Amino acid sequence: PGPGRHEAENASYTTGSTIDSNHTGYSGSGFVNTPNAVGSYVEWTVTATAAGSADLVIGYANGTAADRPLDITVNGATVATGVSFPGTGAWTAWRTVTVPAALQAGANTVRATATSADGAPNLDYLDG
Ligand code: GCU
Repeated sequence: PGPGRHEAENASYTTGSTIDSNHTGYSGSGFVNTPNAVGSYVEWTVTATAAGSADLVIGYANGTAADRPLDITVNGATVATGVSFPGTGAWTAWRTVTVPAALQAGANTVRATATSADGAPNLDYLDG
């Protein structure tokens, strides 16, 4: 597992995303608001001290009533499809979703990609 928190605003993300800070309660200096479209993504680089299983904890907010499922890949390989990111009640209400995944020693890319036309929820960080 890699040490610490990886802020979404320091990750890479779909062109057209904005780093916003208008909904309070986020970690770091803001959060990533991706385009509302299939394929919108945020991709973090996570460094693992050793190969093994890790819990990837994604902080997010979804102020709508509709789920915003994400596919999760690690180093380009799918580890989970259609992971539910349900409504959190408000854009200022932040929750986490945990996805277990195998990481390799050293750098790993973890990408979360929207599968619905609503796009991704607002993404705050990845712990792991
Ligand atoms: C609202 C909200 C944004 C959010 C967007 C969405 O505009 O203020 O923070 O990203 O809805 O539907 O994704």
